[in-house]
Amino acid sequence: MLLAVIRREGVDVPALCEHEAIEPCGSCRLCMVEITKKEWDGWKNHVTSCLYPVEDGLIVSTHTDQVMEIRKTILDLYMARCPGSEVIQKMAEEYGIYKTSYITVPDADNCIMCYACTRICEVLGKSAIAAVERGHRKVIAPPFGDVPPDCIGCLSCAHICPTDVIKWNDEDGTRTIWKKNFELITCKECGKNIISREFADYIIEKREVPAEYFETCDDCKRAEVARKMGSLVTRAKEVSL
Ligand code: FES
Repeated sequence: MLLAVIRREGVDVPALCEHEAIEPCGSCRLCMVEITKKEWDGWKNHVTSCLYPVEDGLIVSTHTDQVMEIRKTILDLYMARCPGSEVIQKMAEEYGIYKTSYITVPDADNCIMCYACTRICEVLGKSAIAAVERGHRKVIAPPFGDVPPDCIGCLSCAHICPTDVIKWNDEDGTRTIWKKNFELITCKECGKNIISREFADYIIEKREVPAEYFETCDDCKRAEVARKMGSLVTRAKEVSL
C-alpha cells in the first residue's frame, strides 16, 4: 500500500488505525494523501494511503495545503472526541491545533473507534469484544457488557489500541481485563509474570507449542542460552590447551 512506501521513503504521515498485525481498514482517515497521474489531465483525488495500492506512474503528494487542511479537521474532531488522549493531543499540536473548535464529547473515553482491538481479537480467533450501541453512544465492549466468555487475557486489544483506552492490571498473580480475572503463569526461575494461563493453553493447543515453553520467561531463557554458550566456550578452550 502507499503508506508503506511513504514510510520507507522516510516521509512522516500520521496514521492511527494501521498496524502490521491486521488488515488496513482506513478508519482514522489521517493517512490521507493526494494522488494524480500525468495522464489524468490535472485530475486529483484524496485517498487513504493505508488502503491504496501502489501503481506505476502514480504521483503522491503527502503535504499539500488541502491534505494538511483535511488532517487538521480530522485532528480537531479527534480532540473533541478524545480530550484526554495524549497521543491525539501530541499529533494535533504538530498540526498547530491546541484546542478543539468542536463541542467536546461528554464522558469521553478517548476511543477513536478504529476497531483495531476487535480486529486483532478476530485475527486471534476469539472475537471476544465488539462494537455495541449506535451513533455517538457506540462503544467497544464484551457481549451484553458482561464478562467476555471468549477472552483469554492475551492483552492484544490493549497493546494495539492507538489511544491507550483499554486498561488492564496484573496484581498478585492475577490479570484483570474487561472485568475478567485470569491466573498468571510466573517464571519458575525469577518469578516474573509471563502470560495468562488461558492464553498459554490456547497457544499450546493451536500452535502446538510444548507446555514447558511457558515455565520460564524470555529473559531467563536467554540467560540460560548464554550460560550454555559460555560453558561451551570454556570447555573448547580447555580442550585446545
Ligand atoms: S492509517 Fe490509514 S486510515 Fe488510519
